[in-house]
Amino acid sequence: MTSQDERAAMTRALAVAAVPGWRDVNPRVGAVVLDPDGRELAVGHHRGSGTPHAEGVALQLAGDAARGSTVVVTMEPCHQNRRTPACTGLLLDASVARVVYAVDDPNPCASGGAAVLRAAGVDVESGLLAAEATKLNEFWLFAMRHARPFVTWKFASTLDGRSAAADGTSRWITGPEARADVQTLRAQADTILVGTGTVREDDPWLVLRDAADRPLPRSRQPRRAVMGRTPVPSGARVLDAAAETVLLDTRDPAEAVSRLAALGARHVWLEGGPVLASAFIRAGLVDRCVAYVAPALLGAGPSAVGGLGVGSIEEIIRLPLVDVRQVGADVRLTLGGIPPKERS
Ligand SMILES: NC(=O)c1ccc[n+]([C@@H]2O[C@H](COP(=O)([O-])OP(=O)(O)OC[C@H]3O[C@@H](n4cnc5c(N)ncnc54)[C@H](OP(=O)(O)O)[C@@H]3O)[C@@H](O)[C@H]2O)c1
Repeated sequence: MTSQDERAAMTRALAVAAVPGWRDVNPRVGAVVLDPDGRELAVGHHRGSGTPHAEGVALQLAGDAARGSTVVVTMEPCHQNRRTPACTGLLLDASVARVVYAVDDPNPCASGGAAVLRAAGVDVESGLLAAEATKLNEFWLFAMRHARPFVTWKFASTLDGRSAAADGTSRWITGPEARADVQTLRAQADTILVGTGTVREDDPWLVLRDAADRPLPRSRQPRRAVMGRTPVPSGARVLDAAAETVLLDTRDPAEAVSRLAALGARHVWLEGGPVLASAFIRAGLVDRCVAYVAPALLGAGPSAVGGLGVGSIEEIIRLPLVDVRQVGADVRLTLGGIPPKERS
């Protein structure tokens, strides 16, 4: 049974782990060392790939006082020796008596830490504030469990589902509040993906900006990715130095996603256009949809999504509605994933 002190420590560990704008390949992790009376001895969090893990930081701060302590940590201690020493080894070297963690580590290279600690005689308990810890690393956990990044498909359309006018012009369907909202949600992703068609038509920049509309530094930008076989024109804005850009010269969504996974992508923000969106839906590679619908009509022009192989109403693709809210003059719908079945 976990104690009130351990629960409070887990809340603190989650808070220190929640580094804003995190885009590292590693998860966010926080740890607190408690003395046998439940008093806090030290707190630490992971600062990114190649730096000490949360348990290592907290144990170092606690020093010799860590002997006989309880370590409360947001994720199962890892059992791997790579760029940083295995946390299981650090915990055993420090002679901690008890470890309380929130969620299992699904990373095949690092999991199994709890079993190693138990076998060495440490009292280990899991599941404390697991829902909160899962939310903290939602995309990372998904990527580890599915061996691919989470994909959010975002689009904007008119009330009649048009993503551009008949002459191809598409700026701006939605208002400034919706566009600012997109910036906030985009910032949760590590990769922004578009097709060559969108680059050709719109020449988008795909960078995060601050409140004064200035681009954030390159180190805080998600990578940009362009998918398709047509070479991207040399003067395209996505090729500038504001952020990293990956050119995925393929039309295979599964290949694109696996190449992005190999680069460390955990959350891909798919911004279209319609042809690319339909390819991802058909491949069962859309995990969430964020749709901005403007109370406006065009009557003609391309749809927000291309052909899906739906020939009759029995084949309609229904998405679970998760959230609806007004953003400025527009409406934002958040919908769950589209079932992964190949469509002809
Ligand atoms: N309203 C919105 O939210 C929104 C968002 C984005 C774009 N748009 C609009 O959409 C328009 C562009 O539409 P689009 O559909 O041409 O753009 P797109 O989906 O960005 O690009 C389509 C191109 O991507 C390549 N591609 C990559 N993977 C593919 C696959 N699996 N299957 C087929 N093609 C693949 C193909 O070009 P290759 O020949 O190079 O392989 C294809 O022509 C623009 O007018 C833009 O403004 C609207």
